[in-house]
Amino acid sequence: MRAEILDGRSHAHTVIETARARAATLRRRPGLAVVLAGDDPASHLYVKSKAKRAEKLGFLTDLKLLPATVSEMELLNVIQALNDRDEIDGILVQLPLPTQINTLRVMAAIDPEKDVDGLHALNAGLLTQGADALVPCTPLGCLRLIKSVVPDLTGSHAVVIGSSNIVGKPVAALLLAERATVTQTHIHTRDTQFICRGADILVSAVGKAGLVRGDWIKPRAVVIDVGTTRVEQADGTFLTVGDVAFDEAVQVAGALTPVPFGVGPMTIACLIENTVKAAVARQTG
Ligand code: GUN
Repeated sequence: MRAEILDGRSHAHTVIETARARAATLRRRPGLAVVLAGDDPASHLYVKSKAKRAEKLGFLTDLKLLPATVSEMELLNVIQALNDRDEIDGILVQLPLPTQINTLRVMAAIDPEKDVDGLHALNAGLLTQGADALVPCTPLGCLRLIKSVVPDLTGSHAVVIGSSNIVGKPVAALLLAERATVTQTHIHTRDTQFICRGADILVSAVGKAGLVRGDWIKPRAVVIDVGTTRVEQADGTFLTVGDVAFDEAVQVAGALTPVPFGVGPMTIACLIENTVKAAVARQTG
């Protein structure tokens, strides 16, 4: 039996409509600032689609595009100014940052109440303690997709491939908070394939095209593919593919996210959800 394909666009629509209804109850519209330093084309596309989505929902949106040469002090000053603006409820600093900038110092400068990407140490710490926090958008999107097919994760074996601060670690923390048994693999893990074969839930967030083959997957497992890699085709065009060998996985898994249109739309939807959550907390707290 072929796997159920988890369409991120339809789930994203539901998340956004719920956030929109919640935003309508506020006394002023939510405000989102998106900051990008540098000229990476993919990052430009991402931040523009994030800002455009917020704008379409009627949010106050401020997109700050800074040069690749921006100093850490200049960037910290931009963040401080956004922290001080009452009408801004959420601040997202797109990663990766140029190499002259210390990412952790920048994350630490964001007001934790406006940290809609959940990357401030306070929010990351609250998440590991199972407390209410602003949670990183892609991991939150992964969890929503998983729970759409497995509402109760108690006792499930979840394997997360990748241990980045932005996806791997928060996904693992979310799954643990849902009472799954979590194994996290990383670049030094021996026999990742063997570990994956025991997974009821498999999340791959590596960025290595086709890493996860069909024979890595337990029959009927839920497979979430966070990877996006642009691969050049024989005719010179580019295709965006995931970490999972889709054509093989679809024969084995119980449910599977496609790339594109799986996790990607959920990242933006959860950013909207987090912005409304921050706005509600700031405007009613
Ligand atoms: N770079 C790639 N994905 C993301 C994301 O979700 N948030 C931020 N801040 N940077 C990213």
